[in-house]
Amino acid sequence: MTKILFVCLGNICRSPAAEGYFSHLLKENDLSNDFVIDSAGTSAYHEGEPADGRMQDVARERGYTLESISRGFNHKTDFQNFDLIITMDHKNYQDVIDLSPNKEAQQKVHAMTDFCHIHNVNHVPDPYYKGVDGFELTMDIIEDACDGLLKKLREGL
Ligand code: 4NP
Repeated sequence: MTKILFVCLGNICRSPAAEGYFSHLLKENDLSNDFVIDSAGTSAYHEGEPADGRMQDVARERGYTLESISRGFNHKTDFQNFDLIITMDHKNYQDVIDLSPNKEAQQKVHAMTDFCHIHNVNHVPDPYYKGVDGFELTMDIIEDACDGLLKKLREGL
């Protein structure tokens, strides 16, 4: 069983999209029983909210749904409960690293874009203040990274 937590700032756009698409990929590959997938935000501003409607629309058009409810990253339990903690941008990465209790916990933290094969980018852009095209690009990058992540996991990371 591999437990993966995707982390962004608000847990209403990028990490719910990553959770939704990666869960969809697992279902398609008959691997759902081998993984636990969750997402969280470094801020809890949107605690209790579903994913942003614009992100949900993009996902639905692509054939999957976003079902997460926003929650804040919990450094006391999330480092213990997850094997991989995957962050969307530099700030999320640094914020999570700063909360890590030890080296072993730090080694669980990875940048999402390190798994991309198609997009040559070093962060997943925050689409919150952008138009529809921003949400499409963010989802393109997230799908690319999730495809690469699953490939890597199948090869033994
Ligand atoms: P996310 O996007 O980190 O991808 O969920 C954001 C959502 C909300 C805000 C910022 C980013 N906000 O400032 O409220």
